[in-house]
Parts: sequence; C-alpha cells; structure tokens
Amino acid sequence: MNSLEQLVTDAQADFLAAADAAALENAKAKYLGKTGQITELMKGMGKLPPEEKRAQGALINAAKVQIENALGARREAQAEAQMQARLNFEAIDVTLPGRGRGKGGIHPVMRTWERVEEIFRSIGFDVADGPEIETDWYCFTALNSPENHPARSMQDTFYIDGKDSDGKPLLLRTHTSPMQVRYARMHQPPIKVIAPGRTYRVDSDATHSPMFHQVEGLWIAEDISFADLKGIYLNFVKTFFETDDLQIRFRPSYFPFTEPSAEIDIAFGSGPLKGRWLEVSGAGQVHPTVVRNYGLDPEKYVGFAFGSGLERLTMLRYGINDLRLFYEGDLRFLKQFN
Ligand code: FA5
Ligand code: MG
Repeated sequence: MNSLEQLVTDAQADFLAAADAAALENAKAKYLGKTGQITELMKGMGKLPPEEKRAQGALINAAKVQIENALGARREAQAEAQMQARLNFEAIDVTLPGRGRGKGGIHPVMRTWERVEEIFRSIGFDVADGPEIETDWYCFTALNSPENHPARSMQDTFYIDGKDSDGKPLLLRTHTSPMQVRYARMHQPPIKVIAPGRTYRVDSDATHSPMFHQVEGLWIAEDISFADLKGIYLNFVKTFFETDDLQIRFRPSYFPFTEPSAEIDIAFGSGPLKGRWLEVSGAGQVHPTVVRNYGLDPEKYVGFAFGSGLERLTMLRYGINDLRLFYEGDLRFLKQFN
C-alpha cells in the first residue's frame, strides 16, 4: 500500500472511530485542516518538477475526494443515529392508559343556588344580583332596623374602611334583604324576584360560617298575601327536595322589616330526618315602612319576602351535619357531589 492509500485508510478508520460530531471535526482537521496531511501534501507540490506535478496532483486529489466522501458518509451516519436516538427518547407508548384531565365539578352550595334559580324562574320570578359591600342604609335603615339594633354591632358585622355618602362606614351585607330595596326602587310592581348571593356575619360554628349564602325572595303587588307565600314556599321545597312527603310550618318570629314575621320550618315524612321540624327560612309580610322605602305606597302595595340559607338547604338535601365541610376544600368531600 503506498502512502496515499494508507492515508485514506487511516482517515476512514479515524472517522469511523469518531463518536460524535466534535470528534469527527477534530479527525477532519487532521487530514483536511490548514495543517492537515492532505493540505501539507498539496503545499509540497510546488517543489516538484512540472512533469511530476500533474501525476502527483491527480493522485493527491483522488485521495482527498475519497477522504471527503468518507467524512460526508460519517457525518450522515452520525446525524441519522442522533435522530434515531431522539425518536426513541420521544417515543409515545400509545398503549398506555390516558392520564386524563382533572375535571372540575360544581360545589354543592352552587348546585343548590342553580336549582333555586331554576325553580323560581319556572314560576315567573326574575333573578337579581347585587353588591356584597353595602351601605348602612340599604342593609339596615331602609329595612326598618333601629339604630341600636344588635345586627349593627361590630360583633355581628364586618365593617370596611371606607364611608358611604351619608358618612357611614361601608359593610359586608349581613343578609340579602337589601336587594329587596335595591330591586324594588328600580322596578314597577308587580315585583316578583329572587336575589341569591353571598352574605357575611361574625359567626363561626357547625351551622354558621362567616361567609354564607342566602336567597332573598320578594313578591309585591296589590293583592299578594301571606297565603301566597305559603303556597309558593311549599311548592318550592317540594320541588327542591324532590318529595311531596313534606310538611311546612310558619312559626311566629320577629324581623324589623316584616309584620307579621315567621320562621319557616319543614318536616319530612320519611328518610333519616323524618318528623323533625327544621328551620329553612325567615319570612313575612313586608312592613309598610319598608314598602315606603321601596318608593311605593303601602296603602296600595303589599306582599311578602323571605330569606333562606343556601347552606341550610344543601345540608338538608344531602344529609350533611357540619357546614364547615363546604369550605374546607377537601376533595374527598366535594367529589361526592359530582
Ligand atoms: C335574615 O337574614 C332575614 N334577612 C331573613 C328574612 C328575609 C326575613 C326576608 C324576612 C323577610 P336570619 O338571620 O334568620 O334572617 O337568616 C336567614 C337564614 O340564613 C337562616 O335561617 C340560616 O339558614 C342562614 N344563616 C344565617 N346566618 C348564617 C351563618 N352564619 N352561616 C350559615 N347560614 C346562616
Ligand atoms: Mg333565623
């Protein structure tokens, strides 16, 4: 084997031995680089006599082409191997079971909220929404609550740094009843509306949460009486609890904004709560002073209002005995409703 043939063989062996692109570039430099062996041979040709130059030049060129071909082939092989490695790495096993997407669900109290809206819409009630930050006037004064009413105390109500146009501190509404006044002042009778939403009190135990939900109901016209309240509410609870085997009772009570006032109790005829009277709502015939604050004539317009706790309705529907479960965010609890 002459020395040029040996050079080509060496180069081919070096290229094959190069494990990666960087090693291959180093090997290339050894033969084709500025001081590489082929380059040196080319430079040396200047010293040869002209008749030898031609023949020798052709031989060196042929060797150079062989080396370049070997380099090209090795580069391709390396690229191919790299691609294959990457494909293997990124391969997807289509036989694996899907991971799925964590599916959200509807909170049980929201489910109640939606059902309540659906039931009251179906009997012609409008659904209204109002502010959770209220003024003293809407929350208390307009509802005939005297200045010294205990609900206004710091122990019962969350006040906000910020005052209304009367210079009174703003507060988180303690009930949805201010929506009676807001809605009635913007609509003409007959007024037939529910207003579900969040409410806040300084309360915390198994049946009281600092944030809870109420739904206010209001029906004002020229001829709406307590009897209508009874019919409407009985129909509501039967639909909500999906049973006809249920009784309703109006227990005398007191609210400044209704006269007469009642707490509405229900009793199931069967099931785990059979026979026990359970309070679901406050209610009453709207007090004439409040009707006047609606901007209406109490001699002409009468009607009823009620305010029910959505957590309470949800607890009764699903047999939950601690309201705090709703707000702990424990998926083991929440998943049972979806
Ligand atoms: C009221 O809030 C009156 N505004 C209801 C009303 C409206 C009466 C219209 C007459 C006319 P009361 O404070 O009783 O009433 O609350 C009503 C319901 O809200 C209760 O029966 C209870 O179910 C629920 N509730 C009250 N406080 C809490 C609390 N801290 N956590 C959870 N639910 C509560
Ligand atoms: Mg009550």
